[in-house]
Amino acid sequence: MMEIPLKLNQSNVKNAPPFTQMLENLQANILKGHGRDFAFHLFFSFDRNKAEQAKAWIADFARNNKITSAKQQLDRTREFKLNQTDGGPIVTLSLSAHGYRALGLDDVMPKASQSFLGGMRADKDKLLDDTDRWTAGFNDKNRPVDMMILVADDDLVTASTLSLKLTKAINLFAHFLLSQMGKGLKKKGVIGGGIEHFGYADGISQPLYLDEDIKKQQGTDKWDDKTNLDRLLVKDGPADVDSFGSYLVFRKLEQDVKKFKEAEGDDLEDCGTPTNGNVVPCVINEKNIPDRSLGGSMVVGRHEDGTPVELHSLPQGPQSTANNFNYGLNDISRCPFFAHTRIMNPRDGDSIAGDVSAQRITRRGIPYDDIGRFPQDVIEVTDEMLNDNQPSGGVGLLFMCYQSNIDSQFLILQQHWANDGNIAGHHLGTDDAIISQAASSGKKVLPVKWGQPALNDAKAFDFPHAVTNRGGEYLFTPSIAFLKSLNNIPPTE
Ligand code: HEM
Repeated sequence: MMEIPLKLNQSNVKNAPPFTQMLENLQANILKGHGRDFAFHLFFSFDRNKAEQAKAWIADFARNNKITSAKQQLDRTREFKLNQTDGGPIVTLSLSAHGYRALGLDDVMPKASQSFLGGMRADKDKLLDDTDRWTAGFNDKNRPVDMMILVADDDLVTASTLSLKLTKAINLFAHFLLSQMGKGLKKKGVIGGGIEHFGYADGISQPLYLDEDIKKQQGTDKWDDKTNLDRLLVKDGPADVDSFGSYLVFRKLEQDVKKFKEAEGDDLEDCGTPTNGNVVPCVINEKNIPDRSLGGSMVVGRHEDGTPVELHSLPQGPQSTANNFNYGLNDISRCPFFAHTRIMNPRDGDSIAGDVSAQRITRRGIPYDDIGRFPQDVIEVTDEMLNDNQPSGGVGLLFMCYQSNIDSQFLILQQHWANDGNIAGHHLGTDDAIISQAASSGKKVLPVKWGQPALNDAKAFDFPHAVTNRGGEYLFTPSIAFLKSLNNIPPTE
């Protein structure tokens, strides 16, 4: 038997031997985000009587190179950088545990993650999801999500034409549930260029696995994003082949932009004590000026342009240090515990919680806009466009993250850290200000002045939840080697 060259406690993946086989067998969008402007997420439920047909189609699809490998993705990115050639579409295929079972693949399905085996609906009490409010595609208990195909491209017509073609072919052996479009949002002057619907730069802090990305970091003395592959990949496929898959969490998270922006209070002119206890109070910035937008930034953990509030009370522009920082022990004078970024990644400076690096997830989400908040072909938005149209729903984030175990990564983050405000036994007294699904959150307090530890005169406020889960599923994105072998695997008796 061939020795497997890839060690999972390895980082610094290079697009060269000994990684070639691994990269050819790994699906795209896992090691590195696809970065395409438009992405269709096609959901299907298999027809139980047509499992063999489904397996044969998937195996052919993989054998005919229709699924984008990590190798192709990296090669095309390099080509694009050299010659500006179009990177072309990215296509990936993921299965839920229900999907594996429907195909008779119980014996060979990944079994490391209990939550994956049960499905997202079964975790509703942990996630505090109101599954009665799940929307089309996710709300039919008799037809759960079995398979998700992702089709992403920078050209809307290319992505939608390919999605329709695939849907037509898959309809022969599966029931079509939903085509959920995601659309990137960009704004000039923010770190990384991408934003989410509340108007904040997103996708900045990510675990890094690729040599080229690790080298590009602007300093690593406080925080290094270099991460071992065992946080991301699990062995999948033939034992003698360097082939890996990864667990994928998909959640459609609706954002009530109006509610969030009102609570943030940065449109208000008066910095006096807000009469409404739901509005974030002004915080005095490092120039000694009461600042209307600093409080909102401290709720997120970064300014709208992505500058970390731990480092600066004023936005520093797109070139500012993005991720080389950590939090001082018990110091909440610059970034409070309830800030979304601090709860989601307390970093190694926050030693009250101990080392929590094992929980790190690799985010691959993209915003969605089901109501036309912005014209369909518009990706780049301005502050005026964001201010002019603040919907109460119909827009949000198609949150997606990859990991090597859902139980010890995403689930810990959402259940214990975000919903309960409990990080490894460190009880914060409040939940995550942005993504908690708890019915009510604890009072939140900000310092009167940024960087001033005393909270004595600080005003407590409520921050309403403006993010609601509308559906989702736990999936696994198998190795291409496994998918190619599918029509050779007899169904489990
Ligand atoms: C609509 C929902 C969400 C919004 C609007 C949102 C927004 C943001 C923003 C603005 C950032 C800062 C930019 C960055 O560091 O990349 C961020 C970071 C992050 N978010 Fe979210 N997020 C949402 C959902 C989630 C969920 C569901 C999770 C996981 C359960 C999550 C985990 C993280 C993590 C791990 C970071 C990076 C923190 C760090 O390393 O410093 N987010 N999010």
